[in-house]
Amino acid sequence: MKKNIPFYRYKHLYNLHGKKIIKIVDKVARAGRYIMQKELSDFEKNFAKFTNSKYCIGVSNATDGLQMLLIAAGIKKGDEVLLSMHTMIATASAVYFTGAKPVLLDIKEDDYLIDEKKIEKKISSKTKAIIVTQLNGRIANMEVILKIANKYKLKVFEDSAQALGAYYKNYHSGTFGYGGCFSFYPAKILGCLGDGGAVITNNKSIYKKILALRDHGRHENDISIWGFNARLDNIEAATLDYLLKKVPGFIKKRRSLARIYNRELKSVWQLKLPPEPKINSNNFDSYQNYEIYAVNSDKLCKYLKANNVGTLRQWGGKSLNNFKKLKMGKVDNKSNKIFKDLVMLPMNISVTQSEVMHISNLIKRFYG
Ligand SMILES: Cc1ncc(COP(=O)(O)O)c(C=O)c1O
Repeated sequence: MKKNIPFYRYKHLYNLHGKKIIKIVDKVARAGRYIMQKELSDFEKNFAKFTNSKYCIGVSNATDGLQMLLIAAGIKKGDEVLLSMHTMIATASAVYFTGAKPVLLDIKEDDYLIDEKKIEKKISSKTKAIIVTQLNGRIANMEVILKIANKYKLKVFEDSAQALGAYYKNYHSGTFGYGGCFSFYPAKILGCLGDGGAVITNNKSIYKKILALRDHGRHENDISIWGFNARLDNIEAATLDYLLKKVPGFIKKRRSLARIYNRELKSVWQLKLPPEPKINSNNFDSYQNYEIYAVNSDKLCKYLKANNVGTLRQWGGKSLNNFKKLKMGKVDNKSNKIFKDLVMLPMNISVTQSEVMHISNLIKRFYG
């Protein structure tokens, strides 16, 4: 029988942990603790500890979290905010709804993160901030990015929706600037049973503002800013708090799968693989995704599909510059060319080592 390896197995986590999760949900529901209760503050404390940050605010999803972070830091109408062409529309829409203008940056060919060498040419007198998307569980070259940000007095934010458990020089993603947002969408390294997110920050004033922003502007019996309803549900927080303890194991598994892909596929010249999962380097990657550059990527995807292996292109195969009606500007041809042939292979805790071998063998066969 042919192996069937979908890109993602949405039932897997619940199959593994469902019994415990039901008990947790039952306990919280029986106690009638639905909105902003102990379970939420417990999770926030533990998430702040996990990411080595001072404060965490549980929010409805990463997109809302990022928008509130930008507002809390004073990003407003008339400002320009730099962000990668290879990120979810969510990064840009968070900017748009503050009234500011998203401006696109180019990517590098080794890890598809922001090309730091091309940031300065996009800076204008209106540029007030840069959002670094820490893509695929890997952190960009923050040393250089922070230097540029300092030089031009730009505020630094991180879209860490894909980078839980990722470190750069021993700092967790989301801790380099004003703050970072995380997503608990079910397919993420730490996923909940629906939507969820968190913002981390080391800045007390930003923390206090987001606490108010997520809850209609309310804080300590007063309302001094216009807010949203963007809270993380208590039941989700309770579930996430349980699953958070499993995250180091989840990441260990992802890194071991990445190691096998890299070992098996390194001889295929038609591919460019993600950087090795090294221990003693600046980057500790958590492999939210295993994204490769592949010559003839369309044909490769079709071949894998015919062999019951699922693949996925980020953002439906369109980088942000392709959404012309949203007018976010142009990027270099080189970035476009790299992006066009990027494909993600199955990478999650449901994938077995023998499945990675099988997928790798199919790819080797495809390229002959
Ligand atoms: C890079 C990036 N930013 C933002 C988001 C949005 O996260 P959420 O769905 O929690 O709003 C995602 C989700 O996939 C993402 O990958």
